[in-house]
Amino acid sequence: MLKLMCICGARPNFMKIAPLMEAFGRRDGLETYLVHTGQHYDEKLSKLFFDELGIPKPDINLEVGSGSHAVQTAEIMRTFEPVVLREKPDWVIVVGDVNSTVACSLVAVKLGIRTAHVEAGLRSFDRRMPEEINRLLTDAISDLLFVSEPSGLENLKAEGVPDEKVHFCGNVMIDTLLKNRGKAAKSKVLDTFGLKPKHFATVTLHRPSNVDVKENLSSILDAFERIAADMPIIFPMHPRTRKNIAALGLADRIESITELKTPEPLGYLDFLKLTSESALVLTDSGGIQEETTILGVPCLTLRENTERPATITHGTNRLVDPHADSILAAYADIRTNPPPADRRPELWDGNAAERIADVFGSLPN
Ligand code: UD1
Repeated sequence: MLKLMCICGARPNFMKIAPLMEAFGRRDGLETYLVHTGQHYDEKLSKLFFDELGIPKPDINLEVGSGSHAVQTAEIMRTFEPVVLREKPDWVIVVGDVNSTVACSLVAVKLGIRTAHVEAGLRSFDRRMPEEINRLLTDAISDLLFVSEPSGLENLKAEGVPDEKVHFCGNVMIDTLLKNRGKAAKSKVLDTFGLKPKHFATVTLHRPSNVDVKENLSSILDAFERIAADMPIIFPMHPRTRKNIAALGLADRIESITELKTPEPLGYLDFLKLTSESALVLTDSGGIQEETTILGVPCLTLRENTERPATITHGTNRLVDPHADSILAAYADIRTNPPPADRRPELWDGNAAERIADVFGSLPN
């Protein structure tokens, strides 16, 4: 029996860990133990996803909560180490690029436990992003690297990672999307917000570069105001974005845009319905660039770079300088020249977690 300790902590981890837990659970010879670090703890950023995606209740929740990067990372490491010592897993499996990913891989490797990273090799080449540092460090120390798109293979090769560590298995986040599309279709979220299919835009924003500096955020809001005159915008708001908007004195400005709604973060199924039916999506998220690609919905990514280039070359994504003029120009262009909606990156087919389970199934105990 191979004991696999699976780690999740923040919202974008949950849709990646769900298909892995399921695929591992179906195999004889694989035993799982699920750790939730508690990096995200709000019901709407965490528990809702466990319920909707059928993720088993974590075997342990480290309840680390929020803090500066150093405090949060250190707290995860401090509380995770005794769990590894007690449970003695054969492998620790981390996903994505959040602080929980790097913290748990570092603890495991130092205890001599083999470590696997799912969604390895992605690079924005922008070290100002905390996620880029998390990706670089996690990949550098992991024993097995599961890659979601071809750029990941090239990046790891360029960094000198030996081929035998690397497996191109596809995108586990897309496994979850394809599995839940039917259920999401039944969501009543459009009625809740009075939206007409393909006549509204969905927005998400939470990156420090966009929401921590008043000038930048104001310029983005100028663009949203103009777009909202053309079609309603729905902007489910991450708690850190809401706090920043209040702290920067921009709450009244947002409220004055009547066709812009800012509900609390939505659950997975409602959000999937919303993005599927959007005329376009404007975001600074990583995963949403991938989801819109599979849904065939145009996506304007309000960032200077992306670690997911397949969403541009084989999808519906476009990078846009996050300032009013560029956003409005891209908006006008995408309305008249929408990207092809029928492209799909290689192996984004719903079977990525199965391929990963195959690799573990073939390992010696
Ligand atoms: C984290 C990830 C980011 C991911 C995002 C998705 C890192 C470095 N960042 O960013 O890559 O795209 O999750 O949501 O790991 N907060 C709450 N309730 C919660 C959690 C957080 O109110 O349940 C607030 C707190 O004020 C906290 C802030 O959000 O300080 C930031 O939370 P944190 O987990 O540090 O990073 P995110 O911005 O959520």
